[in-house]
Amino acid sequence: MRRVPSRPRCLRTRARTLFVTAASCAVCRTASLQPRVSSSDPPASSDQNPLPSPRDSRARREGMESGGVGMGGGECRSNDYGDAAYWDARYSSSGSRASGGGEFFDWYQTYAALRPLLRARIPAASRVLMVGCGNSLLSEDMAKDGYKDIVNIDISSVVIEHMREKHKEIPQLTYMQMDVRDMTFFGDESFDCVLDKGTLDAMMCADDAPDGASKMLAEVARLLRPHGIYLLITYGAPKERVPLLSQAGCRWSIALYIMPTPRYQLKMSKGAPQSTMEEVALTEDGQLPPDYVLKDPESHFIYICHKLAVKEAN
Ligand SMILES: C[S@@+](CC[C@H](N)C(=O)[O-])C[C@H]1O[C@@H](n2cnc3c(N)ncnc32)[C@H](O)[C@@H]1O
Repeated sequence: MRRVPSRPRCLRTRARTLFVTAASCAVCRTASLQPRVSSSDPPASSDQNPLPSPRDSRARREGMESGGVGMGGGECRSNDYGDAAYWDARYSSSGSRASGGGEFFDWYQTYAALRPLLRARIPAASRVLMVGCGNSLLSEDMAKDGYKDIVNIDISSVVIEHMREKHKEIPQLTYMQMDVRDMTFFGDESFDCVLDKGTLDAMMCADDAPDGASKMLAEVARLLRPHGIYLLITYGAPKERVPLLSQAGCRWSIALYIMPTPRYQLKMSKGAPQSTMEEVALTEDGQLPPDYVLKDPESHFIYICHKLAVKEAN
């Protein structure tokens, strides 16, 4: 999926902020968005691959399954990921740990790995909305680390019930069943930060993609206070995600970090767990520099999107 440039040059420069001011949704005009959602990158103690094999005809039609069993690469493996019934089944207590029905499962990265970035960007007093929380440990770990107010939502009533019960003694965490495409329950500008680990990716695999994902992003922008942060952790490279983020109604300044998978980091550190991430300067039009090479081709992209105040956006 990802083009590997011929002239490798590692960028360790200070990230430049990108001001995205596109007036319309480029996503709706392109068919090239093919995120792949998978849970291939759990912490060492987690299951290696809790996903079922793909059965999605659309994905097959679009050649999205062709990446082999390796994870990442921006492809979508199943459009079930946008389906509440799919997630309910997956999170049901009868489900095996390997299918996500266990006590917890963290997609992509853990709090330990993300902590330096989160602590630096999100003050502990922030009101945080965790979209598509699943049964991840992220919110619990953040609360233990001093975060005061984390509202968790997910489309799966099964996982919300489970998490509400599990965390009933942690007042910093609240849980609500909700669809990210319609969060009208919350008022405008009611959060300082929206955290998304894998949920936009799931939306991009849904039957209604990319429209559902666009609705989600419009809602995220509405819910954030000016200068609030949408922190997106995704398999989607800037080529796929920046046009989506630039849709009508969303005005962001974006900084990008790239983080190798835990598996890659473990391999490179030869056994001693490590957390590394690189801040990357985007081009004027919000892309990776043409000669940029991903050290780990399966890397996760972390977009720190600051909501611009109206006068900044115009
Ligand atoms: C890839 S998992 C990520 C889970 C968790 N954030 C993590 O990092 O482990 C995607 C999550 O999004 C939820 N989801 C999918 N579609 C949704 C929607 N329309 N509204 C709210 N949550 C949704 C799923 O139930 C699932 O828990």
